[in-house]
Amino acid sequence: MTGPSEPTVVVLNGPNLNLLGEREPQIYGHETLADVEALCREAAGRAGLVVDFRQSNHEGVLIDAVHETRTSAVGFVVNAGALTHTSIALRDALATVAGPVIEVHLSNVHAREEFRHHSYLSAVASGVIVGCGPSGYAYAVARVAELVKQRA
Ligand code: DQA
Repeated sequence: MTGPSEPTVVVLNGPNLNLLGEREPQIYGHETLADVEALCREAAGRAGLVVDFRQSNHEGVLIDAVHETRTSAVGFVVNAGALTHTSIALRDALATVAGPVIEVHLSNVHAREEFRHHSYLSAVASGVIVGCGPSGYAYAVARVAELVKQRA
């Protein structure tokens, strides 16, 4: 359990990321979402943060998660999956959060299909990490911690 006073980074995962490890392993690798969560918790622990790690296949559930945590979380790490390329609503939700947002993609979306090259979220993100696999999440958590420290 996390207490209300513990600085929390929210890690949000969008559609199909629950299938990580089984889904197109030639693109997304063999590590599972539980492995990614463990990496995030390690990175957060090193930086004195705790992680609120979530995944949903539903746009509205992700938006509700942003609304629930937008003022309490110190920052966000977001891999919105395909919603990255479609969701103005998730972008508008992320535009309301108090802390920094780092967008993450396991794969190098720029080396893939044209429709993955545009992100609705990047404009409201402080940074974007693509193509670094699960390590990208750990880098993103570390970057949130760095930005939080800078802003303090
Ligand atoms: C992804 C890239 C998206 O284009 C895709 O729809 C995903 C995963 C990634 O992590 O590389 O679901 O966000």
